[in-house]
Amino acid sequence: MPQIPAANDPKALRQAVLEHMHMGMTNQTILAEEGGPLLMESAEGIYITDVEGNRYIDGISGMGFRNVGHGREEIAKAIYDQLNSVSMNVYSGATPKTIQLAAKLAEIAPGDLSRTFFCQGGSEANESALKMAQAYHVRRGDAGRHKIISRYGSYHGSTYGTMWLGGHPGFPRTDYQPKPSNVVTVGQPLYYHDTYGSNSPEQNGERAAQEIEKTILFEGPESVSAVIGEPVSQPFGGVVPPANYWPMVREICDKYGVLLIFDEVITGFGRLGTWFGSDLVKVVPDIMAFAKGITSGYFPVGGAISTQKIADAFAGGPEKVWSHMYTYSAHPGGAAAAFANLEIIERENLVENARIRGEQLTDSLEEMKAKHPIIGDVRGVGLLQGIEFVKDRKTKEHFDPSLGVSKMVTDELRKRGVWIRSSLFILLIAPPFNITADEMDDFTTRIDEAFGAVERRLGIAA
Ligand SMILES: Cc1ncc(COP(=O)(O)O)c(C=O)c1O
Repeated sequence: MPQIPAANDPKALRQAVLEHMHMGMTNQTILAEEGGPLLMESAEGIYITDVEGNRYIDGISGMGFRNVGHGREEIAKAIYDQLNSVSMNVYSGATPKTIQLAAKLAEIAPGDLSRTFFCQGGSEANESALKMAQAYHVRRGDAGRHKIISRYGSYHGSTYGTMWLGGHPGFPRTDYQPKPSNVVTVGQPLYYHDTYGSNSPEQNGERAAQEIEKTILFEGPESVSAVIGEPVSQPFGGVVPPANYWPMVREICDKYGVLLIFDEVITGFGRLGTWFGSDLVKVVPDIMAFAKGITSGYFPVGGAISTQKIADAFAGGPEKVWSHMYTYSAHPGGAAAAFANLEIIERENLVENARIRGEQLTDSLEEMKAKHPIIGDVRGVGLLQGIEFVKDRKTKEHFDPSLGVSKMVTDELRKRGVWIRSSLFILLIAPPFNITADEMDDFTTRIDEAFGAVERRLGIAA
């Protein structure tokens, strides 16, 4: 008979994880070797403490969501108060809190993005955006527009409808065949790994945008629904495109009647030091998907916000209705969490703090790059940055995975009290926005020392 482990018994909890849970992206064998998952007991600000009393800096904000930091009682209380009055919608109903949140989003979202469909997370937000785009074309008499252009080095989710978009080095999809025939993949600008023979980041951006135009023409514009991308993409550690890229893509989309979807699941609500990635790259999409930072992960909320032009396609008789829904859409508890979270971001000036601390982080990463031969490149903006580690700086070749360098990086960070799981050759760095200057210094010193230790283990002199 399975035993329910006591909450204060780490050993039994770890054993029960191995027996009773599917932990995504790992398995029971690996977990057992690693001594089990982190069992969080408490968290405050940028720190998390496990049941054994080990304290770590949360270097990736949970998973890019904990924008306002841990331990925010006022968000917990807002959720409690909301659930104590109205705890959930009924079918075809809407609660005042969620309606207010939709209006608030219309106020803070870029350009004329003003109508939101709510869901629970990032994958669903992108699913909703893609379905909205296709249904929009159908309502306008363009039923043939069903293809989606996405970019290598992007991540848009793990549902059947989103997993084949983009391409994440740490997220193989080979089990899930076939790749949907409506998904078309192109490159994105990353000058460090330029594949276009460019001689500057701007040319790299221009050629990447041109690839989108060529692809639209090759596929036939009348068959293309949307281009989807993150303003700054996460899998390669905060890939910031040159300033010409997104404006060119916007123009190309407009030229061929293709919609532009921004996946702001990670960049939304301040992570880049601007409210939205859209503000940073100075382009407004037709639809923007969001999740994570809207509640800082205190309640699962996502959504897709569109312009009125898109929304108007669904106005009219029953045949115009956009057929899409989830049971838990527009949960009032999530709306209450979002309001409390946005209030904290505004009151504590956290978007500005993300920008300033981001500059401090960039300076430290540049210093580390000058010092550590295995650091090939550092990149990113605001509090979405990363380190790419390489075997050979000249050829940019990565270490053979059998050497386990990414595990070494993870382990050395952990020994120094930093919680980030490194992917194959990228260390993503994305702490909460309320990190102070001193905490950032401490955090980057620990990263620096961890890379020194990895180099010693590899017999490479710093
Ligand atoms: C840019 C981006 N889009 C979509 C997703 C998927 O979000 P979720 O895991 O909430 O479904 C993520 C998650 O990391 C993401 O970073």
